[in-house]
Amino acid sequence: MKRNGDLAIRPTSDDQAFDESAVPLYYRRKTADILHKYGPGPRVHFHVGLFDPTVTLNTTVPQRVLKRRIVASQEAIVAHAARSWTAAGPPPAHLLDIGCGLGGGSLYWAQEHGAQVTGLTIAAEHVPVIEAFARQTGVGRRVTPRLGDIHELTEERRYDAAYANESSGYMDREGLFQVVARALRPGGWFGIQEHFICRPEWVDWINGYYKTRLGTLTEYIIAAKEAGFELEQDEDVTDGVSEFWLQSMAWNTAELTRIEQGGPQASWSLTRLQESAIAHGKLFRIWRDHAVETRLLLFRLGG
Ligand SMILES: C[S@@+](CC[C@H](N)C(=O)[O-])C[C@H]1O[C@@H](n2cnc3c(N)ncnc32)[C@H](O)[C@@H]1O
Repeated sequence: MKRNGDLAIRPTSDDQAFDESAVPLYYRRKTADILHKYGPGPRVHFHVGLFDPTVTLNTTVPQRVLKRRIVASQEAIVAHAARSWTAAGPPPAHLLDIGCGLGGGSLYWAQEHGAQVTGLTIAAEHVPVIEAFARQTGVGRRVTPRLGDIHELTEERRYDAAYANESSGYMDREGLFQVVARALRPGGWFGIQEHFICRPEWVDWINGYYKTRLGTLTEYIIAAKEAGFELEQDEDVTDGVSEFWLQSMAWNTAELTRIEQGGPQASWSLTRLQESAIAHGKLFRIWRDHAVETRLLLFRLGG
């Protein structure tokens, strides 16, 4: 995919292996699945959620209960991050939601904090869905979804904050931090929810499954520093996230049973559901063992 010439993004071996053109295609196919599992909205998220790690939840409950818990946990992690990141100052007046998906986070910031939000996504299908949800919730004028590749963003000093919820794992980190540093006003913050590789033997499997190029925390901190950011907060939420995979696996299994018993088939194929159920077992073990960690990071731009 074309990159902005003045960004001078250094190619790495990861970049060479990573197929950027696969990402929009992946989301084109996935939009209906996301709406079915995490919808109906209006705030639809496609990221992990936060559970209380001290509470053991049962999973032998109706599918609608599992869905309610999954969606509540996604809202909980967004609200938790927002509370931590805005503790020291007012909420941002203008926020850039990088890789906004179906707009759950964009709508959250507009509805709960009155922010003007520009949501950027690489999947064209997302844009009309977000516009419809934003109108439905009365924040149509505050949420502006845009189709585009973050690496090509050229805006300068326009936003008070940027937010990337499980989207930075698709991006070139050096380029991402450079672009965001230019787009933020001095003193602005960049909040990231992301998964970080701790044990390299899982990298290929996870990246293949989600079409990502996950990195390490060190890699992020170095790229951020080069662009003029300092790490202000680093919260490890892995233990609270592990449960998400169990609840999500239970939902998938319930969906499989529902279809096998003659229920109407949604967008998921049986094969995809079966693969996903197996993958979820791995994901749960990977997170429980901290082979991958989910963290909430807050970077602040100097100057
Ligand atoms: C896992 S989804 C997360 C969506 C959303 N942040 C959420 O939490 O619900 C990843 C998102 O990143 C977006 N994305 C991936 N690569 C991108 C790029 N180069 N530029 C802009 N968006 C990108 C995809 O379109 C998708 O919406």
